[in-house]
Amino acid sequence: MNDLEIHLDERDLAASLRADVTAGLTAPAKWLPPKWFYDARGSELFEEITRLPEYYPTRAERAILTARAGDIARITEAKTMVELGSGSSEKTRLLLDALLAQGTLGAFVPLDVSASALADAVARLDAAYPALSVRGIVGDYTRHLRHLPDGGSRLIAFLGGTIGNLLPAERATFLRDVRGVLDDGEWLLLGADLVKDPAVLVPAYDDAAGVTADFNRNVLRVINGHLDATFDPGLFAHVAVWDASNEWIEMRLRATETMRVSVRGLGLEVDFARGETLRTEISAKFRPERLESELADAGFRVRHRWTDDDGLFTVALAQAA
Ligand code: SAH
Ligand code: TRP
Repeated sequence: MNDLEIHLDERDLAASLRADVTAGLTAPAKWLPPKWFYDARGSELFEEITRLPEYYPTRAERAILTARAGDIARITEAKTMVELGSGSSEKTRLLLDALLAQGTLGAFVPLDVSASALADAVARLDAAYPALSVRGIVGDYTRHLRHLPDGGSRLIAFLGGTIGNLLPAERATFLRDVRGVLDDGEWLLLGADLVKDPAVLVPAYDDAAGVTADFNRNVLRVINGHLDATFDPGLFAHVAVWDASNEWIEMRLRATETMRVSVRGLGLEVDFARGETLRTEISAKFRPERLESELADAGFRVRHRWTDDDGLFTVALAQAA
């Protein structure tokens, strides 16, 4: 069944974009929240990132899922799988295949803020898995978890290292909220990128072909389109730096000249000094012990945790306990 449930309609999106852009662009240190990267073009650019030679997380996580999907199916016996920030749900097929082969799975519920990516994914999954009920939810995983389907052997997957895009305090709240919608005994499958040599980390967020730079600048195009702003994306340079004390990659856009940008939809004028930066994203990297203790603090027990052969990425299978 092809089904899309919308919890973020255009009006709702517009209101939260206005609030976010107002807060971020009037702050002394300017920032924008990352969920606005993902319009149709942004989602396509992200898919391109996943195929870049420098971007190891997708390949590493796929290797783990290839090796462990059978174990995950056997251990969880999930009847419903939910995926948060599902994007194309490509790697997720490894889990769907294993759970279907075992005969437990009846429903798949991907949730994403990007309506276009989700509609695309749901259409493809419907064609590939006619026996499975697929219900997409257009929503924000920090706000719409209450719309997830009710209990009975659920597995919530949160893949791609997207957990790292939340700030530490947001992450703690998010994990507690996820725990809150699960019943005791249900499961969270969490993919997280590991701390490693910055010589490997930084190029994953600053590739030679410039796809990540284009993706980063896409947030300016989204604001131009939705809020009638006058950003010239060509005047912003992509910056990706490893913040060693916070152990995260920070993505910024740096104004290459002094400029004034009008955000006409908000009646806002924003001045940029030459060299001033705008923070667009963090991508936190984890040490296994910290990941496990954060999951424990949120009310999960990590039953299994796997890494790829190169030790780049980890997938934790945690039970609500
Ligand atoms: N899980 C996929 C995609 C990761 S990219 C993978 O592993 O390849 C991050 C995804 O999260 C994008 O599809 C983006 O649209 C979605 N996303 C970002 N912020 C979100 C939010 N607040 N709520 C719901 N989805 C969000
Ligand atoms: N979840 C992805 C990550 O942190 C998202 C991502 C990849 C991203 N490359 C990016 C976000 C570049 C912003 C800019 O790895």
